[in-house]
Amino acid sequence: MAQTITAATLASSLSEERFQRYYEEAGPDYAAWSPGFNMHFGYYRSGMNPFDREAMLEQMNCEVLDRLRISSGGAPRVLDMGCGLGATLRTIARKLPNAELHGITLVPWQLEQGRRLNQSAAGTSHIRLALANYEDTGYPSMNYDAVYALESSCYGTGSGKSRLIREAHRLLRPGGRLVVADGFISQGRFRGPQRAIFRKLCECWVIETLGDIRAFAEELRNAGFRDITVERMQAGVSPSVFHVPFVTMKFLLTDVLFGPRKMTQARWNNVLAPVLLPLVGFPVGPLAYFLVSATRA
Ligand SMILES: C[S@@+](CC[C@H](N)C(=O)[O-])C[C@H]1O[C@@H](n2cnc3c(N)ncnc32)[C@H](O)[C@@H]1O
Repeated sequence: MAQTITAATLASSLSEERFQRYYEEAGPDYAAWSPGFNMHFGYYRSGMNPFDREAMLEQMNCEVLDRLRISSGGAPRVLDMGCGLGATLRTIARKLPNAELHGITLVPWQLEQGRRLNQSAAGTSHIRLALANYEDTGYPSMNYDAVYALESSCYGTGSGKSRLIREAHRLLRPGGRLVVADGFISQGRFRGPQRAIFRKLCECWVIETLGDIRAFAEELRNAGFRDITVERMQAGVSPSVFHVPFVTMKFLLTDVLFGPRKMTQARWNNVLAPVLLPLVGFPVGPLAYFLVSATRA
């Protein structure tokens, strides 16, 4: 038994080390995707320019904000669970100047860079970033009006992401809103080599497993959320996914061939993962992009 615990502890500290190394080494490369460090896919609404990637990335932040249903009066408290460099919080800060905005990440480099970006952007003094684990923040219960996780829930434990959901539920006041936007395993099964491709994709992004959309919705119900809405966002997300080959090509020609930083395994993994994504995602499946929103009862 003692040996099992030691092996499990060792495995978890090795994966923690790989996670930190991935974000420290590949983190700066996200600048090739988004100058504002929006570390997620975008959302296209009709009338937008589909070639303007940053506008679509910003629109995804707005889609999340809309579903949080924050009233404009008062001083709402909002938590970003897995904030990266805080790009979404900066979008929200511009729209809600009275809000108290908090973001947590596990990566010290992101915290440092996120604070630097906040200092150089106007109207962001009400953003606070901190190092904390979204599965066990240690923050007081019922402390927030709204909580969201934008492409960070995939790092939660298990396919139902129950620890993340239960912590979000504990942190929200009754009536408070949770919004999660991410890739999930949807209906259908992995076919042929897809399971191996999926495992490689998870390894590249240092993810244990993506959430399973049905298990996730079930966990929300079990935790005490109501008014649960599951939206498949593929059509809105695809225009930004089409940017991946062009960004990758440009990155290879500029940063890889002539860039000053040595290419490491973590940086190569960050190049490979988005290339693998279409082989298990849209249009073949079974991965798909969802926006899930719910209210704490
Ligand atoms: C792909 S990035 C997305 C960042 C940000 N939401 C965005 O869209 O720009 C994933 C983020 O989740 C964070 N993360 C992963 N697991 C976490 C955990 N257990 N607690 C807090 N943050 C976590 C990572 O540190 C990283 O900031």
